[in-house]
Amino acid sequence: MDINLEGRVAVVTGASRGIGAAIAKTYVDAGAKVVITARRPEGLEKAAAEIGAPESVHAIAAHAGKAEDAERVVAETIERFGRLDVLVNNAATNPYMGPVIDAEIRAWDKTFEVNLRGPLVWTQAAYRGWMKEHGGSVINISSIDGLRPGGPLAIYGVTKSALVFLSQQLATEVGPNVRVNVLAPGLVKTDFARALWEGAGDDAKYPWPLQRLGQPTDIANAALFLASDASSWTTGAVLVVDGGGTLGGPFSS
Ligand SMILES: NC(=O)c1ccc[n+]([C@@H]2O[C@H](COP(=O)([O-])OP(=O)(O)OC[C@H]3O[C@@H](n4cnc5c(N)ncnc54)[C@H](OP(=O)(O)O)[C@@H]3O)[C@@H](O)[C@H]2O)c1
Repeated sequence: MDINLEGRVAVVTGASRGIGAAIAKTYVDAGAKVVITARRPEGLEKAAAEIGAPESVHAIAAHAGKAEDAERVVAETIERFGRLDVLVNNAATNPYMGPVIDAEIRAWDKTFEVNLRGPLVWTQAAYRGWMKEHGGSVINISSIDGLRPGGPLAIYGVTKSALVFLSQQLATEVGPNVRVNVLAPGLVKTDFARALWEGAGDDAKYPWPLQRLGQPTDIANAALFLASDASSWTTGAVLVVDGGGTLGGPFSS
């Protein structure tokens, strides 16, 4: 099957760099028009230039945790490109490392605002503004840190775990026209995870079955599948893309 997004329109949050930028480029290459959002306009301009198809990309500065920003982006997307078929809730934050038991509530609230309330209010805006009537696909970017407790990114992990449940709950509510799925990446070479891979070298062997670091395109390819008709009978799924890192076995550290 030829997986393409011809005639489709997508909104991708956190798309000025890293995984979000790779998803936006992959969608444009597959034929979609894409609205890219992030907080800083200069990062968005750079990402739009790198995608390099000005007629297919529109950048809007917006905060991923704010309902009013989501509503503004949905309205501007429909005005600009005429529809909204795919929403990728990709932006996330991680202001705190350490045990939940010692967590500052300000860091807890901030992490939940962006990582959990954000995907809900953006999905609500897309659903009410377009998808309820016309259908669509929502893809929420979680993490393998949301699948197993005990890691150092503790509050972040709680939000990413809750995002899986939120996505599955929404999937039960918005079918049959709207699908909601989750991508759970492992360690991917972006700014977000820099502390975890910097210094390891490009040909480093990592302790999991596929032995390499993830690239943003590894996640973008999976996000293309979930956006396209190739996944038309898939909803509420959690697609782990981690080089086999959560499997355990002889490679695990
Ligand atoms: N990299 C990994 O190893 C890894 C592993 C598992 C899951 N993930 C998940 O993958 C997603 C993308 O991560 P990444 O590694 O690509 O991160 P990244 O390279 O740091 O990029 C983050 C993007 O989100 C935007 N952003 C951050 N806070 C925002 C906010 N409050 N409102 C709007 N936009 C915001 C940033 O732009 P501005 O700063 O201009 O807003 C940027 O475009 C996240 O959900 C992350 O949890 C990443």
